[in-house]
Amino acid sequence: MNQSSNEIHPEKKASKSEMVFNDIGRLEMINVDKDMVLIECEGGNVEVRFYAEAVLNFRYFKKGMEKKHVTQAVIRKHRANDWLVEEDDEIWKLISVNNGMNISGTKNPFRMNIFSSEGELLLGESEQGLSYTHNGRLMSVKSANDNERYYGLGEKTGFLDKKGASYTMWNTDVYAPHNPETDALYQSIPFFISHRGKTAYGLFLDNSGKTHIDLRTDQGTYQFMTENGVLEYFFFEGPTLKDVVKQYTWLTGRMELPPKWAIGYHQSRYSYETEKEAMDVVDAFQEKNIPLDAICLDIHYMNGYRVFTFDEDSFNKPFEFIMNLKKKGVHVIPIVDPGVKVDAKYELYQAGVKEGLFSQYLDGRIYYGEVWPGQSAFPDFLNDRVRRWWGDLHKFYINLGIEGIWNDMNEPAVFNDTLTMDVQVMHKTDTDRFIAHEDVHNIYGFLMCKATFEGMKDQLNGRRTFVLTRSGYAGIQRYAAVWTGDNRSFWEHLQLSLPMCLNLGLSGVAFSGADVGGFAHDTSGQLLARWTQVGAFIPYFRNHSSIDTIRQEPWMFGEEIEAIVKKYIQLRYQWMPELYKWFKEASNLGLPVMRPLVLEFPLDKETYNCADQFMVGEATMIAPIMMPDTTHRSVYFPHGEWVDYWTGKRFEGGQYHLVQADLTTLPIYIRAGYAIAQGSVKQHSKTIEQDMQVHFYLPNKEVTSLSYDSYDDDGESYEYQNNDFSNYSINITVDHINLKIEVITVKKGSYKAAWESSWKIVLHGDFLEGERYLTTINANKVSPYIQTDKEIMLDIS
Ligand code: GLC
Repeated sequence: MNQSSNEIHPEKKASKSEMVFNDIGRLEMINVDKDMVLIECEGGNVEVRFYAEAVLNFRYFKKGMEKKHVTQAVIRKHRANDWLVEEDDEIWKLISVNNGMNISGTKNPFRMNIFSSEGELLLGESEQGLSYTHNGRLMSVKSANDNERYYGLGEKTGFLDKKGASYTMWNTDVYAPHNPETDALYQSIPFFISHRGKTAYGLFLDNSGKTHIDLRTDQGTYQFMTENGVLEYFFFEGPTLKDVVKQYTWLTGRMELPPKWAIGYHQSRYSYETEKEAMDVVDAFQEKNIPLDAICLDIHYMNGYRVFTFDEDSFNKPFEFIMNLKKKGVHVIPIVDPGVKVDAKYELYQAGVKEGLFSQYLDGRIYYGEVWPGQSAFPDFLNDRVRRWWGDLHKFYINLGIEGIWNDMNEPAVFNDTLTMDVQVMHKTDTDRFIAHEDVHNIYGFLMCKATFEGMKDQLNGRRTFVLTRSGYAGIQRYAAVWTGDNRSFWEHLQLSLPMCLNLGLSGVAFSGADVGGFAHDTSGQLLARWTQVGAFIPYFRNHSSIDTIRQEPWMFGEEIEAIVKKYIQLRYQWMPELYKWFKEASNLGLPVMRPLVLEFPLDKETYNCADQFMVGEATMIAPIMMPDTTHRSVYFPHGEWVDYWTGKRFEGGQYHLVQADLTTLPIYIRAGYAIAQGSVKQHSKTIEQDMQVHFYLPNKEVTSLSYDSYDDDGESYEYQNNDFSNYSINITVDHINLKIEVITVKKGSYKAAWESSWKIVLHGDFLEGERYLTTINANKVSPYIQTDKEIMLDIS
């Protein structure tokens, strides 16, 4: 809706009286216990808990107003810790005996600073500290450094560095617009990282109500605020960016390794309305040899938008249909929204009403809201019994052969002025406590995904599931991949998707993606081609478009575009072994698959706000073209040597280069000194990988040693958790004359990939110039296969 100047009418200015903040005042007493340190002050209490060497927890609330923690984001428990207290009339000091970290400040007024064991100030308060209003708002003001950058905050518009704006966390169904003014979106992840070059720390404001994080740091401070009477945050010491991400995901959990089919290419449309329409699309992919792993069914597959049904006319044989697609290697992912249609004859609705499973007001009235099916009731996902009920219902889909679910509209979205559920609804928690929707709004979608994921996993007999979600909260990575909602077919939205997904990755969500081609608005061939190039290297790779827009399947824009789109979908499959390795790392350590340059080059200032380029893992840099009619761009190469993936051309790092890339070319660069794994083009991820190559890019300048750890498993079961995977470590030492290769099998368990009987190592470098000889080889059998002046290929068996 367009707005007029009336929006800034002086009479409309919010009254300030509600926002008068009172200082927490004087420290009165410190009570030390191994379990918790309680600091009593005039204007409230502060509790300090120890979670791990680098993870501390602080909780501030007004006396007598302590609220229970209900977000479920945190999967760890705090630990007992030895604290030493030192104090005089003016100063207090708390020393953690375990890690030497100390927390100290003035007593009157109470202020609190965190120092490392080396005495470096990590997180400080300035003149202001903690304060409160009489209507339950709590605020914390921290000091900010000029050279500090802020990353994370999940799904937000804007650039990579979040400095200079204020952010509201309140899950909202925003169909439009998505631009720098759009603040609250579908996800709320109130976690950010402060990066100062050599050091970094993280801060996670764990609160499922509305929260605000204000990073306008011009006055040398930043602040965060909650509205529901409790302000609880975690502090992560770092000291590197990667450490902070690992610490945060240690606390809030990491994703399970997804099935391989989930990281293939997915095709979607709102909607493929009939079995035939969906089948024709899949057949077209096969005829045209365009790889495809999944097709999404949007709301039209259902009977009158009733979840857990198929429409008897348009999808009258769902089992046969799904099995047919499975034979072709294609999974069906149906959409499941939380709104259950009000219909006395609909069994699901009956069960929900009879057993009290829907969200209600305090007096027992069910809350009804309008969504796709019309008037609907909303399961009370805050309650464990409801989550189990909802999870079990997925047997319906599993019995039809479905293994993945798409959760949408789970903010929850409601077609009314507030865009969501009435905040007066009182949810019933697992312990049968009542809690207002207002206080838990941001975890409604998260808990729906928990119910879906656990229900699917429990009933899939040891096969991995895949859940995709629009809404979420901190920790959502444990249950679902995230797509960034209703973007548009704008070049600006392609550009926006990079910092958004990069920051999601830094916020623990390694598996994310934006609708390729753009959801709303009409895409163009050129935009689809460029977007597919980016999508091929984004963790979640799905083309999705809205009702009433022009179709955007790969072949919709003529042969030239089809060939480009096909080339990049195929490329995704060639890169699958490499991507899968980084997915495994994400599930082990929580580090993102798709990374901002700053994560790999934290000391290089040029990377600090760079988000039109990104890394895949440690070795690959993607520098996409994201402007219409453009065939060149400036690319920043961090220090070191870089190799053009397509041409082998070398680039000197530590500077910008102007590169050419026609519409068929996505600029991809490999960091010399590193390696990447490459497989073959496949129709889908279940095609057995026969052709595996590990490509080493030798630096031309330095004497060095290189190594690569490959990772593979069956891609569908949990056997890898019993060490049933394949893992090779390849080490290469190279100097001016010698080249020594060592292949170490670290393979565990009984899993043996087909490619293991014959695979290749490819060395890229200037061999003739350097006159290097292959001198030592340590493997079963390694034989030079092809040798040119730029490449040596070795067969391993
Ligand atoms: C929402 C989703 C979109 C979906 C549509 C219909 O707008 O964000 O992806 O296609 O609903 O279900």
